[in-house]
Amino acid sequence: MPGFTDDFLDEVRARNDIVDVVSGYVHLEKRGSNYFGLCPFHSEKTPSFSVSPGKQMYYCFGCHEGGNVITFLMNIEHYTFREAVEKLAERCGMDIPQDAYGESSKKERDRKDKLREINKASANYYYLQLKGSRGKAGRDYFEKRKLSDETILHFGLGYSLPYSDDLYRFLKSKGYQDDLLKDCGLVVFDEKRGGHDKFWNRVMFPILDANGQVIGFGGRVLGDGQPKYLNSPETEIFNKRKNLYGLYFARRSREKEMILCEGYMDVISLHQAGFTNAVASLGTALTQEHCKLLSRYTKQVLLCYDSDKAGVSAALRAAPMLKEAGITSKVIHMDPFKDPDEFIKNLGAEEFRKRMQDAQNSFLFEIDQLQKEYDMGDPDGRTGFVQELSSRLTRFRDEVERNNYIDAVCERYHLEQGSLRRETNAIGEKKEEQRMRNVRFSASSPRMENREEGQQQRQKKGGLSRTQDLLLTWLCEEPKLYPVVRSYLSPEDFDGGLYREAAEMFFEQMENGQDDPAKIIATYQDPEDQKEVSGMFYSDAYETVTPDTRDKAMRESILKMKESSLERYRREHSGDQDFLSTTLKRQKELQELRRRKILQ
Ligand code: GTP
Ligand code: MN
Repeated sequence: MPGFTDDFLDEVRARNDIVDVVSGYVHLEKRGSNYFGLCPFHSEKTPSFSVSPGKQMYYCFGCHEGGNVITFLMNIEHYTFREAVEKLAERCGMDIPQDAYGESSKKERDRKDKLREINKASANYYYLQLKGSRGKAGRDYFEKRKLSDETILHFGLGYSLPYSDDLYRFLKSKGYQDDLLKDCGLVVFDEKRGGHDKFWNRVMFPILDANGQVIGFGGRVLGDGQPKYLNSPETEIFNKRKNLYGLYFARRSREKEMILCEGYMDVISLHQAGFTNAVASLGTALTQEHCKLLSRYTKQVLLCYDSDKAGVSAALRAAPMLKEAGITSKVIHMDPFKDPDEFIKNLGAEEFRKRMQDAQNSFLFEIDQLQKEYDMGDPDGRTGFVQELSSRLTRFRDEVERNNYIDAVCERYHLEQGSLRRETNAIGEKKEEQRMRNVRFSASSPRMENREEGQQQRQKKGGLSRTQDLLLTWLCEEPKLYPVVRSYLSPEDFDGGLYREAAEMFFEQMENGQDDPAKIIATYQDPEDQKEVSGMFYSDAYETVTPDTRDKAMRESILKMKESSLERYRREHSGDQDFLSTTLKRQKELQELRRRKILQ
């Protein structure tokens, strides 16, 4: 946090009770241990905005805004972080420290600078190895992939030599100490071997953030080995969910739209062919943060995912996420080729440009996929299709937009306009009625109103995220369960950078007998992070846990976490010496866990 020491911020939060502060803006009513009111951040008729005096946090189950007392003031008054803290300090009569730049935040900044410096030095080193006398294998590989020297230089591609501690020794010779190197993501330490390189005998793709700083690497095997790509782990400076490969160049391409594709090689081939507006997520599914990030630079995205099944479902998933961030999307068809890299190699840039021009509206793309599930030659099949289609058309609440889509699909699938319109409107009305009924229902349960939206959100969140939310919320509500949970789970079992970080901090608090999720939020500056972390401590799945289902829910949650963490271990550590024995041990633990009673 720039400007203030942690102690100072803790005190500001402690002396400004969130219920008091929010009450200045929102009429709150107490329900159970929480307070509810109409959300000030979106318009609603029944309260889904919750304030928890225990957690010192707020969260809206409708629009998913959430945070602590500082973020509340930032959001409602559009204050900067600094302004919000100053107002709150003033409110409770605290003096602003003269030297507002706390020691700890400066140290943290210096550390991050150093980590970036190490990554940059490593990129240079890998590049030199590629060009040097021992880099032939890497050069041959890139030649086979038809990358020019110019492209290699432009992207700073490199090669890691087939020795296990080559980079480590280089970085040591530059004077970097182990305590820093262990956190840069490029060197792995273990007791037996000491420090050794994460990447060796791979072609290296430096990953730049939007400002052109090297924050991590992807490394590809030269042949068919596994894993095909290895990526830097999450570090203080590298967060996969928030960075896009190629963005640094793409943002300067001056194109109106951006091309979103799957992999490193796709981005590079596209740029080489002149499409300098291509970006890719880094071997992870597209996140909301990615979408937000893109929305800073463009309002239209061309989806260019692989033409296989996985690519199609990735595109179906991406389109609504982009839409939520205010980006319209279209789908580029690359058949008969698998991905843009292959397409361009075979048909060239001009053909690709044509495909860009022919890119398909992503709703129509979705409906094309839907149609494949029905037998259109059969009246029942056709009816089923039309019903599902009508239901999806109700997504467009704006009448003009809806009618335009109705026209478009009628033309495409030879449907009768009048009847499709009637069907769509009928379903739309039914849905609206349902919504209204939920609103009435929600007098007792304020979360019902946004049930539909909430469900969509939750579906978007994978099962694992839901489980992780549930566990964190559960612990927050019942801290006495911590020792039990801790005996099965550690923060490393949490998946995803933000989850793991939040879990680490929360577990540490619990160790010390604290329970202060609002403090965890205070460690994030990015409002999106703050929202997401708030959501972790406000899982509505916790509401569904009853005395009868408690033990089962807890066991299944822990099992799910353990299974996915084992899966991850297998993916990431297959090269380790004790890989087999560790895997077996963990499998056995899982089996035992399946039989055990967890909550007595
Ligand atoms: P090439 O096979 O070299 O053309 O790579 P690609 O970029 O076309 O890769 P692919 O379409 O197979 O995968 C897309 C992206 O997913 C890659 O660029 C990587 O970011 C990621 N990826 C692929 N395989 C792996 C893997 O084994 N491990 C990890 N962590 N990521 C992978
Ligand atoms: Mn490829």
